[in-house]
Amino acid sequence: MATNDKTASPLDTPLQLATKIIHAGAEPDPSTGAIMTPIYQTSTYVQTAPGQHKGYEYARSQNPTRKALEDALAVIENGRYGLAFSSGVAATDAVIKLLAPGDEVIAANDMYGGTYRLFTKVFEKFGIKFIYVDTTHVANVAAAVTPRTKLIWIETPTNPLMNITDIRAVAGVAKTAGALLCVDNTFASPYLQNPLDDGADIVMHSATKYLGGHSDVIQGALIMNDPALREQLYFIQKSCGAVPGPMDCFLVLRGIKTLHVRMQRHCENGAVIAHHLRNHPKVANVYWPGFEDNAGYAVANKQMRDFGGMISFTLKDDRIEAANAVLSSTKIFALAESLGGVESLINHPASMTHASIPREERIKNGLSDGLIRLSVGIEAAQDLVNDLDQAIG
Ligand SMILES: Cc1ncc(COP(=O)(O)O)c(C=O)c1O
Repeated sequence: MATNDKTASPLDTPLQLATKIIHAGAEPDPSTGAIMTPIYQTSTYVQTAPGQHKGYEYARSQNPTRKALEDALAVIENGRYGLAFSSGVAATDAVIKLLAPGDEVIAANDMYGGTYRLFTKVFEKFGIKFIYVDTTHVANVAAAVTPRTKLIWIETPTNPLMNITDIRAVAGVAKTAGALLCVDNTFASPYLQNPLDDGADIVMHSATKYLGGHSDVIQGALIMNDPALREQLYFIQKSCGAVPGPMDCFLVLRGIKTLHVRMQRHCENGAVIAHHLRNHPKVANVYWPGFEDNAGYAVANKQMRDFGGMISFTLKDDRIEAANAVLSSTKIFALAESLGGVESLINHPASMTHASIPREERIKNGLSDGLIRLSVGIEAAQDLVNDLDQAIG
């Protein structure tokens, strides 16, 4: 934040979310006073004598643009430390690398397909065991704990069924088990939910989504409070090297500045679309945590500030051809993977984002072949309603 007082940071005093989001990590550039963090496009930094430098040695380990972003990530998630990665899955990968062969992870049975793929196809062969449970019932999590449990991994709301897990309750289980709790907060974004405040040890984001907000960057983030955990994760970040470039860090920094205004509109539009679909004669089920009769409503109401713009639904005609007809007919909703950008997207989880989950697993966990997922953007709500109506027919 621009200030003439060189000693006090405005973020030292409690600020409201909107102010924090805009000023997080932003210090005038020390060399020029530039209000926007420059893109430090450099691989290395000149030393005046061996070991004498300004805190920056080599750009895989440190970069000023990345540092500004990491500071911003910490502020907006109410954490002490942020770390940025080259993608969301690279951030997840770093968390699992905290573990050793023989360690067990309790993970949600409904989560992003790429996370499931990383766990089962990459890490299982290194002797890490993943136990998948329905984490919406905390008793299932408690029942899966063994002396080898080192990490509990949850996503809430989940991708794509919008299931809600009680973060505080699972944090209690993790504490008793002596395990870490990591929450994938991608769908909620820090605007809607701050898992560290509810007892999580690590928050993970696919910054590709709401943090970037403009569908123009791939990036991941981890936020934590414990300095020892930060050191371990920083060691993995620099040793394994999945760091984002400075241009990408700049884009996410810029995206964060409008997170609150974008999220407010995503939530408003999401509510309009969710209610409209629920009343549509051709729609069977609508998955959105804001319905009062949704199983996760009470917990969502407790731990989230609003209900977001992610919605999934099924048609009464449950043939895959019927779903495909809708997916191919929208004109404003673009048929594409990803979510969280300003523009609305429509997606078919079974063949796109969750294709890496075996069909029987998917169906068992409620992800049907005909499920359609929407990332509701910030266009005019009525135009989005009209677009869905003409596509559903
Ligand atoms: C909930 C969730 N977590 C993690 C990821 C992975 O992030 P990335 O695509 O940035 O690697 C995604 C991507 O869709 C996601 O939706």
